[in-house]
Amino acid sequence: MKEMASLLRIVADETRLRVLRLLSETPLNVTELTTILGLAQSGISKQVGTLKKAGLVRERREGLKTFYRLSEESEVPEEGRPLWALLMERVRTAEDSRHDLVRLAETLEKREGAAPGLHERLLAPGESWHAWSRMLMTLLPPMERAVDLGCGSGILAAELARVCDEVVGVDISSQALSAARAHAERVGLANVRFIEGDMTTLDLPDGCCDVAVLSQTLHHLPDPMTGLKVAARLLKPGGRLILMELLPHDEAWVTEKLGHLHLGFSATDLESMMEQAGFKITSLETLPPLRGERFRAVQGCAVWGERDVPPAAR
Ligand SMILES: C[S@@+](CC[C@H](N)C(=O)[O-])C[C@H]1O[C@@H](n2cnc3c(N)ncnc32)[C@H](O)[C@@H]1O
Repeated sequence: MKEMASLLRIVADETRLRVLRLLSETPLNVTELTTILGLAQSGISKQVGTLKKAGLVRERREGLKTFYRLSEESEVPEEGRPLWALLMERVRTAEDSRHDLVRLAETLEKREGAAPGLHERLLAPGESWHAWSRMLMTLLPPMERAVDLGCGSGILAAELARVCDEVVGVDISSQALSAARAHAERVGLANVRFIEGDMTTLDLPDGCCDVAVLSQTLHHLPDPMTGLKVAARLLKPGGRLILMELLPHDEAWVTEKLGHLHLGFSATDLESMMEQAGFKITSLETLPPLRGERFRAVQGCAVWGERDVPPAAR
C-alpha cells in the first residue's frame, strides 16, 4: 500500500505526467524538456529529480549531457508495477492538448540537425533536393501555362516558372500569398502571378493549362474530389496532373494546428478519386520512410482527357 500511495502522490501533478509522456517517446535532457514544456529550467530539474528519486525515470550520461529515460516496468518498485503499467498506458494515449508532441518532434529535428553526419547526408544526391529538382526540371519540354492549386508560399510555383511561359499560383490564404509574391520577386520572376481565393470557385477558363499541381492541398478541402475536378477543368486534353499527398496518419493535432480536414489518403483512395475525376494515372507511388518521419508522402501523375470522362466528374 505504501508504494502505491507514494506512486499516486508523485504522479498527481500535470507537469510530471507531461514529462513521463515525453520520456515514454524518447530519452531527453533537461534543456530539451524545458524547451518542449515551456517552463523554467529549475522547475523541470526539480520535477525530473522527484521522478528519478521515485525510480520512475533513470539517467544516462552522454558526453557532457545527462539524458533521462522512462524506467522499465521491472525497474519500478514491485508493489507499484501494475499501477505504473496502467498509468503509462493511459498517459501514452492521453490527448496531447498542449501540443507537447509537436514541440518534441521539432526538438528532435533540431537535435538531429546538430548531430555529426548531417553534412554528408546533405551532400548525398537526393538530399540536396532543391538543386537536383531544378536540374531535373530542365529535362521537361517547354510549357505554356501551369497552375499550382493551393500554392502556399509559392516555392514550387517559382520553380515551375523556369520551364513555363506562365505559372498561376492559387491560394486561399493572403498570408501565404504575401510570402509567395515576396519569393517570386526575390528570385526575379516576372512570369508568375498569384490569385487569392478558393480554388473551387476559380475564375480561369477551361482547358487553359498544360500542368496542374495539387501538392498537399487535397487534405485541406472539405470534399477532396472538388480539387481534382478543378484540376481536370483547367487542363488541356493531354495536360498533366502532379499530385502529392500525405499517407493516412494518426497525427490528429494537424487538424487544429494546421487546418487539415483529412488525416491523409491511401494510394487506393487517390487512385479511385483521380479515375472518378476522369484522369488516366501514369504513376502512383508511396515514398518509403527515410529517417522515421511522422508523415509519409504518396505522389501521383496523371493525364487528363485520354479516356472517356464521366459527366459527373465535370
Ligand atoms: C499544406 S499547404 C501546401 C502548400 C504547397 N502546395 C506545398 O506543397 O508546400 C496547403 C495550402 O492550401 C491552401 N488552401 C487550403 N484550402 C484552399 C482552397 N479552398 N483554395 C485554395 N487554397 C487552399 C492553404 O492556404 C495552404 O497554403
